[in-house]
Amino acid sequence: MKIDQFTVEAPNVQYTEEHIISRYQYGNTKLVQGEGGKWVVKPWQESFEFRTQRKVPKLGVMLVGWGGNNGTTLTAGVLANKLGITWMTKDGVKHPNYWGSLTQASTVRVGNFEGEEVHAPFKGLLPMVEPNDIVLGGWDISRLNMAEAMERAQVLDWNLQQQLVPYMKDLHPLPGIYDPEFIAANQAERADNCIKGSKAEQVEVVRGQIRDFKKNTGVDKVIVLWTANTERYSQVVEGVNDTHENLMASIAKGETEISPSSLYAVACIEEGVAFINGSPQNTFVPGLIDMAVKKNVLIGGDDFKSGQTKLKSVLVDYLVGAGIKPVSIVSYNHLGNNDGCNLSAPQTFRSKEISKSNVVDDMVQSNSILYKPGEHPDHTVVIKYVPYVGDSKRAMDEYTSEIFMGGKNTLVIHNTCEDSLLAAPIILDLVLLAELTQRIELRRDGQPFQGMHPVAVLLSYLTKAPLVPEGTPVVNALNKQRAMLENVFRACVGLGPESNMLMECGWTNREGATSSS
Ligand SMILES: NC(=O)c1ccc[n+]([C@@H]2O[C@H](COP(=O)([O-])OP(=O)(O)OC[C@H]3O[C@@H](n4cnc5c(N)ncnc54)[C@H](O)[C@@H]3O)[C@@H](O)[C@H]2O)c1
Repeated sequence: MKIDQFTVEAPNVQYTEEHIISRYQYGNTKLVQGEGGKWVVKPWQESFEFRTQRKVPKLGVMLVGWGGNNGTTLTAGVLANKLGITWMTKDGVKHPNYWGSLTQASTVRVGNFEGEEVHAPFKGLLPMVEPNDIVLGGWDISRLNMAEAMERAQVLDWNLQQQLVPYMKDLHPLPGIYDPEFIAANQAERADNCIKGSKAEQVEVVRGQIRDFKKNTGVDKVIVLWTANTERYSQVVEGVNDTHENLMASIAKGETEISPSSLYAVACIEEGVAFINGSPQNTFVPGLIDMAVKKNVLIGGDDFKSGQTKLKSVLVDYLVGAGIKPVSIVSYNHLGNNDGCNLSAPQTFRSKEISKSNVVDDMVQSNSILYKPGEHPDHTVVIKYVPYVGDSKRAMDEYTSEIFMGGKNTLVIHNTCEDSLLAAPIILDLVLLAELTQRIELRRDGQPFQGMHPVAVLLSYLTKAPLVPEGTPVVNALNKQRAMLENVFRACVGLGPESNMLMECGWTNREGATSSS
């Protein structure tokens, strides 16, 4: 059974006009070593208070790389949903939806009514911005208008594109920061819409563009998300980009190692605007993280977790969690969109390779029955550019595992990914969840309320290489990431974590049964 909305009635929860306030007991354990080295586990509880602002702002989202496959697909998708556009295909009439979005198209269990499980939409947990209300804009180094860019992307059905042209032809990307040092040389020919000047001047231009966008659209809040080409890694150099002060001094000097994505991020942080990185490069060099933490502006990333890696973070969790030992994981991809073309250069491919490589680490480290300290499965990732397949990326994976009594188990998976149709709803979730987390404050007993840490760990579910605050472990296992998000939001409305114990159901009260002991 599905319900759309609910309120919680409990002594620990209060709904005021402005806020939802919940007092929450967080249960955890402490481990101590007793006599003779014996381990003792001591449960403990800590009191928190969550306070969530109920008023949802008018949200503006500015995409860096707006004219790319993801940017055009998201824009077209939001418009089609908002305008209720249906379109004809050889399979019949299609209707717009937000499938693939955790917030819009998945549900959470909220209880049991007359013996039936009751689910609510994920977005019903807390007040969230409606995707149809988002005002979209952004930058692209290519000057094509959004209708032409949508046609170049070759993602959406032609009949839908034709209906969207009148709404997209007057949307023009702002000029962007282009530095051929950082993306593949094969991108040079589309770079005809670029901001001129020194690095410091470019930052000032972007800051002005954000302010103008806010003023012209009348939005209350802006979030910026990088969905532009993958850049090569920046070298992290002491004295150049290792601290906030050094980073700013390096921008002033025009230091070559500061990438365009870092410049956009600096401009956003200066404007107090959240910045999310959907690509694999290390935009968030230590100096930038330092800056975001000092100025308390949300940053999140890196690299959308859309297809092959999402599946990997489920499969390896399942295998290791089942006591099966993956020993070799080999992933081949081929794709033919502009992302694939850009990744065909070794330096940009290297960024992707790094981002994809650590995704099984936490699962492997969690099981020292299977793996010796420091032992890892062999893990290789290959990406090839094959223009013919366009946006329809193929991902082929082979997982070889050791099983009972010296046996081997091999899984071979062929995944046709439809790259941008998988990524667009993830972009939506990233901005909606980032916006919501900016409205949540919390405090320990007796302390003042404060916002969440600016390094947005709650976005981990949506990223391949989650950026986390110092001292917080990186979790890649998809189900754990989802449980974290869901349970934090449940806590905000005073609900305990979803335990899945189902003790309210039949298995705990078998009438007439006698004890077997
Ligand atoms: N499933 C997915 O699609 C997926 C998954 C994970 C990560 N990503 C990453 O998302 C990014 C975008 O993917 P895409 O398929 O939309 O790529 P795309 O090449 O179609 O689009 C990127 C756009 O960015 C523009 N651009 C490049 N540098 C820019 C700059 N400095 N400023 C402004 N605009 C700039 C380009 O002109 C292009 O239009 C890629 O880095 C890709 O690796 C995509």
